[in-house]
Formats: sequence, structure tokens, C-alpha cells
Amino acid sequence: MNIFKKFIGSNSIEDLKNKIDYKRLPVHIAIILDGNGRWAKKRRIPRNLGHREGAKTLEKVVLFCNEIGIKYLTVYAFSTENWKRPKEEVDALMKLLKEFLDGFQEHLGKKNIKINILGDIRALPHDIQNEIIMVEKFSSKNSGLNLNIALNYGSRIEMLNAVKDIAVDIRNGRINEDEITEEIFSDYLYTKGIPDPDLLIRTSGEYRLSNFLLWQLAYTELLFDKVLWPDFSEEHLLSAIIDYQKRNRRFGGI
Ligand code: FPP
Repeated sequence: MNIFKKFIGSNSIEDLKNKIDYKRLPVHIAIILDGNGRWAKKRRIPRNLGHREGAKTLEKVVLFCNEIGIKYLTVYAFSTENWKRPKEEVDALMKLLKEFLDGFQEHLGKKNIKINILGDIRALPHDIQNEIIMVEKFSSKNSGLNLNIALNYGSRIEMLNAVKDIAVDIRNGRINEDEITEEIFSDYLYTKGIPDPDLLIRTSGEYRLSNFLLWQLAYTELLFDKVLWPDFSEEHLLSAIIDYQKRNRRFGGI
């Protein structure tokens, strides 16, 4: 079903805002940003321009989440598998990322947004690594939206590394194997301290999780829609929240 078409219809952004119960907002929304390439292809322009438009959409959605009171937004910007793309595309994505981080303090940091990167940043270009350390530090005291950007992120490697770290801690006597609970395992992941997502959105009509937050999404409500990421708007986000609020979350109960 096309959830977004169903809710947006003839509703204005104000109508959609009024349909939301602000006391039951999803605390954490995760988004798989997909469809930049197809957006560009439809317009017969280079893929990189699709990513550029996608970055603009990201900034708009981040600001809107902050404005309506979402506490955590996690976006999948670059996976461990994305290195397989042609070099020019990887370079263009890194350039966009650098621009996003350069402008962070001015655009998003000033709005009280806190940034946190999930993933192994050691494989990223050095200037980007330094920039990440700087923006995370600058924004660490901000108390608005927590923006988590998954970069060089893969869920299986995240869990594998957690298992290795736990094994080291058992060997060193820092932890006993009988004490390992789901909560303790979670503390070994990049998402330590972050509540699991309530709602996952994937754009572009693909029905996959693509190695994104596999542990953390265990009880998350999933929403897949055909809209291509660069076309995603505030109205789409509001529709997703309205749909989420109509669902009955049972967490395995009845
Ligand atoms: C998927 O579209 C998108 C990506 C692999 C990258 C997402 C990046 C951005 C939105 C912009 C840059 C990010 C930041 C944080 C500044 P695709 O290329 O797989 O699209 P396709 O499936 O239509 O080809």
C-alpha cells in the first residue's frame, strides 16, 4: 500500500500536523535513505546530483524532526558494502559528507542538534575523521534531536565485534559469561545508550534491511514506501508518524 499517498492526499502540512498525538511520538526514527540514483536517472542527470539532492533532503528532515520533538533520528548514509561503488561515486559521497559536517555547526548545531556517528570511521579519509571528532565534541552538550549517522556501518560486523569484545572481557575477568544479558550485549554495540528504533522507514520501494541495525530493529515498526529519498518531505514524515500511531505494538504479547 502507498501509505504516503493515502495520508497526504488533499491534506496540508498543517492538517497532517493536527492529526498527530504529540504525547505518543516515536522516540527514535531510523531511515534507510534510498533512491538517490533513480531520482537522478529519471531526470537524466548524473547520480552524484541525486546524492546532492538527497543530502539537502536529509538536512530538511533533520530540522523538521528536531522541530516536532523527535528525540533520535538514525540514518543510513554509507554502508560497509558501499565501498564497492565506482570510485567517483564514493569520492562524491565523501565530498558531500565533508560539506555536511563543515556546515553542521552553522546549520544544525545552532539548533541544539547533537550528532553521533555509528560505524568504523577509521576507514574514512583523515580530514573527515577529524571533522567527525570535532562536530561530535562541539555538539555533545546539545539537548535537542540526537542525529545518528551510520557511516561505514554494517550490522553483522557490529555484532561480530561485540562478540569479540565480550570474549576479551571474559578472558580478562571483567565480565562473567552468566551475566551477559540482552542489555549488556547492547552496550557493546555502536548504539550503546540509544533506545531501539520505534519506527524504520525505507524509501524507494525496496523491501530489505540491507544489514542495518539488525539487532536493534527486533521490535521496530517497519514502513516501506516507493517515494525516492530526494522527494521525501515533511509531509511524508508526518504521514509515517500518523501510520505508526495507528499500529498496535504488542512486543510479543497479545
Ligand atoms: C542510496 O541511494 C543512498 C546512499 C547510498 C547514500 C545516502 C547519502 C545521502 C542521502 C547524501 C549524503 C549523506 C550525508 C550524510 C551528507 P542509491 O544510490 O542506492 O539510489 P539507487 O538505489 O536509486 O541507485
